[in-house]
Amino acid sequence: KEDINVRLELQKMSTLEKIVQRGTLRVGLEAGYMPFEMTDKKGNVVGFDIDMVTEMAKAMGVKLEIVNTAWDGIIPGLLSDKYDLIASGMTVNQERNLKVNFAIPYIVVGQTALISKEYADEITSWKQLNDAKYVITSKLGTTGEQAAKRLFPKAQYKSFEMEDQAMLETLNGKAAATVYDLPMTSIFYAQRGKDAGMKLLKDPFTYEPLGWAINKGDPDFLNWLNNFLTQIKNDGRYDRIYDKWFGS
Ligand code: ARG
Repeated sequence: KEDINVRLELQKMSTLEKIVQRGTLRVGLEAGYMPFEMTDKKGNVVGFDIDMVTEMAKAMGVKLEIVNTAWDGIIPGLLSDKYDLIASGMTVNQERNLKVNFAIPYIVVGQTALISKEYADEITSWKQLNDAKYVITSKLGTTGEQAAKRLFPKAQYKSFEMEDQAMLETLNGKAAATVYDLPMTSIFYAQRGKDAGMKLLKDPFTYEPLGWAINKGDPDFLNWLNNFLTQIKNDGRYDRIYDKWFGS
């Protein structure tokens, strides 16, 4: 009976208390989404999200542990307690919000279209992409994939495990366009696409707030995260991190 009581107490505990007791904040993300989380030359995961959760762990007085997880398993990993929160450029959408809670969004992005060299002159608006002659790529399980299927049902859709693979397919002329989040498309365009004759249609055609996801039923943790975000957004910490990754 005592055992059961201990277990019930633990279940009632906010994730926040568990983090503090453990002395470690465990963050789930998938590296590969520039400039939010990517692997540098030394093999370290770096980026905007990393700097934000580093600041978060500091404010909690705990250590940070990054749990690199494949995108299609990232929500199941949270639900089965592999980490305390997801900080992985995740778009707050209604379908995901049925399963998880989101803190107030920390940035807003949107879908853009990166066009292959072959079609760089022909395609001048994202609206033209709804045509059976075009192959469109994106990443499995993302809002890019959802947008491509929803907005361009007539096009031929091809899914990739990683965002850079989806864009390489277009760079290599095997697809007409990649639909994916700005700023990722913009960085790829600047690094590789521009010299290869690609074109970026960089006016976003979807509204995508990104937020930290946590398990449902934990108002204490949600309250802490929202107040933390408001604080760093107004005391210069957010701006410093933002300028580091998005400033010119
Ligand atoms: N914002 C998009 C989505 O939520 C893509 C996020 C991909 N993130 C990543 N770390 N690979 O579906």
